[in-house]
Amino acid sequence: MSARLIDGKAIAAGIRAEIAERTNHFRAETGVVPHLAAVLVGENPASEVYVRNKRKACEGCGIASSLHRLAGNASQAELLELVATLNADRAVHGILVQLPLPKQIDETAILDTVDPLKDVDAFHPHNVGLIVQGRPRFLPCTPHGCQRLLQAAGVQTAGAHAVVLGRSEIVGKPMALLLMQKGAVADATVTVCHSRTRDVAAITRQADILIAAIGRPEFVTADMVKPGAAVIDVGINRLDDGRLVGDVDFTAVQETAGALTPVPGGVGPMTIAMLLENTLQAARWQTPPAR
Ligand code: GUN
Repeated sequence: MSARLIDGKAIAAGIRAEIAERTNHFRAETGVVPHLAAVLVGENPASEVYVRNKRKACEGCGIASSLHRLAGNASQAELLELVATLNADRAVHGILVQLPLPKQIDETAILDTVDPLKDVDAFHPHNVGLIVQGRPRFLPCTPHGCQRLLQAAGVQTAGAHAVVLGRSEIVGKPMALLLMQKGAVADATVTVCHSRTRDVAAITRQADILIAAIGRPEFVTADMVKPGAAVIDVGINRLDDGRLVGDVDFTAVQETAGALTPVPGGVGPMTIAMLLENTLQAARWQTPPAR
């Protein structure tokens, strides 16, 4: 049997349309235009594409965006100064520092200085702490996008065994936290596997929900998937022949899984939609009620 395709592109388009409507209302009510400031350091081609797509999505929803570029050899002090300027700018509601940063810059030092109320990536330790405690301010974009895909696909998460492959700060770790939380599209029993996990396949085969976020092309093969499982592929890998593939061997796993996201057109557009949602929310929190 062939898996149901979870069409992230279409689901994200629906969410963006909803955000555009809410943004319209917000602008009409307050006269304030939500504004995302994107920071790009150097010329990483993948980052260029991601930031361009994020800004284009803002534009489509009535959210303003500005791009702040620094050269690849910029110093940490220069970037800290830029972040401080954006923190102080009352017209900027969300700040996104595109990762990775060049190696002369300590990523943590930068992310720690973003105003937590403008931290639409939810990378600041205050925001991560709130997520850990189950009272999030902003939800992290990619994990939240995965959660919304599970919801849209009607996947039952309560009591399910969710296996997260990967323990990155951006995806794996926060994904596990969201799924283990109490509440909707959560309440799962979560296992996190990583590069030091023994017999990964024995664990993934127990997963009702499998989230692949390890950055290894086509790592998840059909024999690693429980028949009928929901599989969310967060990976995006460029092969030597130019093909773009996920962390899941799509063709093979399609025969075993019950539901599956494609790459591209799965998680990617959802990450962007969740970023827009956070930016609108940030603008709301930073706009005093009309008197
Ligand atoms: N680089 C890869 N993913 C992300 C993300 O979600 N946010 C930022 N800022 N940089 C990234």
